[in-house]
Amino acid sequence: MDNTTITVNNGVQMPALGLGVFQASPEETRDAVRAALSTGYRHIDTAAAYGNETEVGQALADSGVAREEVFIETKIWISDYGYEETLHGFEKSATKLGVEQIDLLILHQPLPTHFDRTLQAYRALETLLEQGKVRAIGVSNFMPDHLNRLLAETSVVPAVNQIELHPYFQQKELQELHTAQGILTQAWSPIGGITFYQEGQHTSTLEDPTILGIAAAHAKSPAQVMLRWHLQEGRSVIPKSTKAHRIAENFEVFDFQLSDEEMAAIDALDTGNRGGPEPADVTLEAYGMPIPEA
Ligand SMILES: NC(=O)c1ccc[n+]([C@@H]2O[C@H](COP(=O)([O-])OP(=O)(O)OC[C@H]3O[C@@H](n4cnc5c(N)ncnc54)[C@H](OP(=O)(O)O)[C@@H]3O)[C@@H](O)[C@H]2O)c1
Repeated sequence: MDNTTITVNNGVQMPALGLGVFQASPEETRDAVRAALSTGYRHIDTAAAYGNETEVGQALADSGVAREEVFIETKIWISDYGYEETLHGFEKSATKLGVEQIDLLILHQPLPTHFDRTLQAYRALETLLEQGKVRAIGVSNFMPDHLNRLLAETSVVPAVNQIELHPYFQQKELQELHTAQGILTQAWSPIGGITFYQEGQHTSTLEDPTILGIAAAHAKSPAQVMLRWHLQEGRSVIPKSTKAHRIAENFEVFDFQLSDEEMAAIDALDTGNRGGPEPADVTLEAYGMPIPEA
């Protein structure tokens, strides 16, 4: 099965697996992106809010890998929502990344208290798409009601919705809506990273007995099993690591296959408990830090 590349709804091809750089310092980001590109990764997921777009761009420029071979995805932060603000947000990100064109530009969050501004921001993405400044556009953390409002009031169906998705939180109804609308599900925290920092609610996916059992059967690691599970269900994944050996490990997922029973066993691990912030609770007041100029 070839699940190394996914074609999104406007025909653009993207490598299914990319490197995430959330919570990686600028210095760590430069090293991680370098390591990833030399391992063979051709997709990097960053965000204006991560404060490390410049280092992603530097690592890309230094890598010797041709710009057009690498799929660069970034996100507009909520403080840059609004039509003109988001057009300017693109300029800031592109300048920091050192690129003319961004492969996939997405809205980082819906802003439920200012949904009009969210819509204006998305209309700016549509303009950037029309102008060829971005190759595809999408959203992140949009729940069904946000997505339905967006679909009703804008023209371009998002290519992706990047959402929290790991064995303990699978958002199956939202995934079904994506399938019905032709939107690719992209999993953030694909190996459950968001759950590692929590106490009490659930143990780490890396220590889950079901996942450990499947990993042992394939002589693979728990992280590799989870990434494989996503890929076999047709999702894009963007695991984050700042460690070269884990960056390499997370890429070694195209040489084995999980059985239907193994896939079903992981599907059954869903707890319904979200690890990250509730999208409906994100407000400018609580989260609206400004994004610096390039
Ligand atoms: N759109 C959004 O709102 C949103 C939110 C969160 C994340 N994201 C994106 O999704 C990416 C991934 O999500 P995430 O960083 O939350 O979680 P993740 O990729 O599921 O897990 C990352 C954590 O796992 C560790 N790790 C990585 N590979 C490992 C391996 N093979 N074995 C054991 N541990 C391993 C990492 O530590 P080390 O670095 O020390 O290896 C880190 O603590 C982010 O980087 C970001 O690009 C988006």
